Amino acid sequence: MPLVCLTDFQAYAQDHLSKSTWDFIEGGADECFTRDDNIAAFKKIRLRPRYLRDVREVDTRTTIQGEEITAPICIAPTGFHCLVWPDGEMSTARAAQAAGICYITSTYASCTLEDIVATAPRGLKWFQLYVQSDRQLNKQVVQRAESLGFKALVITVDTPKTGNRRCDFRNELDLHMNLLLKDLRSPKERNSMPYFQMCPIDSSFCWNDLSWLQSITRLPIILKGILTKEDAELAVKHNVRGIIVSNHGGRQLDDVPASIDALTEVVAAVKGKMEVYLDGGIRTGNDVLKALALGAKCVFLGRPILWGLAYKGEHGVEEVLNIIKNEFHTSMTLTGCRSVAEIHQDLVQFSRL
Ligand SMILES: Cc1cc2nc3c(=O)[nH]c(=O)nc-3n(C[C@H](O)[C@H](O)[C@H](O)COP(=O)(O)O)c2cc1C
Repeated sequence: MPLVCLTDFQAYAQDHLSKSTWDFIEGGADECFTRDDNIAAFKKIRLRPRYLRDVREVDTRTTIQGEEITAPICIAPTGFHCLVWPDGEMSTARAAQAAGICYITSTYASCTLEDIVATAPRGLKWFQLYVQSDRQLNKQVVQRAESLGFKALVITVDTPKTGNRRCDFRNELDLHMNLLLKDLRSPKERNSMPYFQMCPIDSSFCWNDLSWLQSITRLPIILKGILTKEDAELAVKHNVRGIIVSNHGGRQLDDVPASIDALTEVVAAVKGKMEVYLDGGIRTGNDVLKALALGAKCVFLGRPILWGLAYKGEHGVEEVLNIIKNEFHTSMTLTGCRSVAEIHQDLVQFSRL
């Protein structure tokens, strides 16, 4: 049977991955309330379609940070793609390039940044950094990413410490020992290291340290994981260039709002001074439309990309992206939107349920 929607790929991945890998991908923190709410919250939003418009031509293209993408649907950073498919992030990068969308490469990529760029040289890529305690290591990797052609630096702010992922504890998952993490090391060091010993994430990193990051790179800095208007206002004050409203797919602090529920207050707080994006719980074209109607410039997919990768590597990711892009095209057509610019807040209403 063909796989026709993103959750079909989820079912396939569950059947074919080892239990510990499946649990690692799917898992949320603590009771997984926020992970599940990310999905449920979209279902509380209804669409208000407008008819009798000429929708023969529907254009899903848009831009992020000035770069054109074929649809406002891109790839969130997720680590360890080699757990799911042999050449891991290289397959993901090729699929993103073929789809004409942006791929945010994780600090915890299991392929080197050089290999990822070599395999998909024309694809738009951003680099996600977990700030490490060793400043030199940060500087080295940021400057390497910049010289390799990554177009933005995404700083994940919701992880001063890893959340309590109960499944990973039960499975005694040890990513440090099992994976060759190559990205943070210089090529010379990499050859002499049997595996990368994950440096601790810098839990002392604060707003004032952003200026240091800004001083070592010309890349626009985007903060991933902002959920409140207070932090959104601070992001504006610190000249950040974008925000990804995210709760890390419910893997960090449990009991925070679903991303889609936090979006409105962040969008209102930044007052158009920077682009706001969203990830968490996007599974259908309608979800993309709802996020854009509430002010997101673009959305990012986390787990669905890994399900596609588990299915058929690069081609599985391409299928996932094609399906959701086609769904989004249908969503736009059936609500009377001919361009992304026509997607406005009056397209959605909140259900009383
Ligand atoms: C297996 C897995 C690994 C992840 N690794 C990272 C990471 O390395 N860096 C990061 O900023 N976020 C990471 N995330 C969070 C994603 O970027 C994203 O916020 C989340 O997956 C979006 O929710 P979704 O899975 O419902 O689409 C990870 C998520 C998953 C599921």
